[in-house]
Amino acid sequence: MKEQLEAIQAEALERISQTEDMKELQDIKVAYLGKKGSLTGVLRGMGKLSKEERPVIGEVANKVRESITAALDEKNEKLELLQLEEQLEAEAIDVTLPGRPVKVGGPHLLSSIVQELEDLFIGMGYEVREGPEVETDFYNFEALNLPKNHPARDMQDTFYITNELLMRTHTSPVQARTMQEYKGEKPVKMICPGKVYRRDTDDATHSHQFTQIEGLYVDKNVRMSDLKGTLDTFAKKMFGADREIRLRPSFFPFTEPSVEMDISCKVCNGKGCSVCKGTGWIEILGGGMVHPKVLEMGGYDPEVYSGFAFGMGPERIAMLKYGVNDIRQFYTNDIRFLKQYHKA
Ligand code: PHE
Repeated sequence: MKEQLEAIQAEALERISQTEDMKELQDIKVAYLGKKGSLTGVLRGMGKLSKEERPVIGEVANKVRESITAALDEKNEKLELLQLEEQLEAEAIDVTLPGRPVKVGGPHLLSSIVQELEDLFIGMGYEVREGPEVETDFYNFEALNLPKNHPARDMQDTFYITNELLMRTHTSPVQARTMQEYKGEKPVKMICPGKVYRRDTDDATHSHQFTQIEGLYVDKNVRMSDLKGTLDTFAKKMFGADREIRLRPSFFPFTEPSVEMDISCKVCNGKGCSVCKGTGWIEILGGGMVHPKVLEMGGYDPEVYSGFAFGMGPERIAMLKYGVNDIRQFYTNDIRFLKQYHKA
């Protein structure tokens, strides 16, 4: 029996030393020391031994069990350590590697222009207001001295939703809305940026949807020279201190007199080139003195109050300022176009 035990020990130790696998090590443990293991089997037969033999074999058996257990523990520890090392190696982070760059977006060119204009006019004491894009016929036209069937309604081809509802064709309805809200009780000094819609066929210079910024200043003693000074400040801040402006007579039903403002061409400095079509001037915006009827409909007494209004297109301003030659660039969103205007 002693030989049998020693044979088991030799075999077990050999198998333990050979294995490099935790699972196999566990199997070996079961195969020798488990309930049905070979060592356990031999020990069970001890009952058949004589009284003298029993303690001797018992001692041998204990030593065999101890040596197998010790070998198992030792191997287990070794394999655990190995596993940990492998895991650490696999999960290692090289802190010296360069980081992955984070892609940062930036404001759309139009948003930047609108922001710049807002800052400029806030600096001159204007508040920034908003109005609905789905507008009533009343605010878009009637309150601006454009009664139904007025021929000047054809100046702006309109997307009608119902007879009375439409997509606003300009930001001017916000003039009427603001005056009405202020009830003729206090001066108005506001700008309103926003989207407007027209039934135009899209091409390089026309778009069915674009942006406008409206300006309205109503107070006592507001004069044409105030409009001119304001627009001159705007032109010089936006396009450079060396720009000249000129006002040409024009027509809008809601202003009287009405003007169109040009700035001297930046490309040729007024000499005449292809950008200004040889005139030396570039048209920028429309404006004028608020029509007495519009003041009246807004609740302001035209005998006491006067005012000026203007409307400009940020797309046009951006196109002139940055040499963008197709208005569709603003909404087709080619990232190569947009990126050029992201400030670092
Ligand atoms: N609403 C006019 C347009 O869209 C511009 C404008 C605004 C003219 C205010 C005069 C006064 O063409």
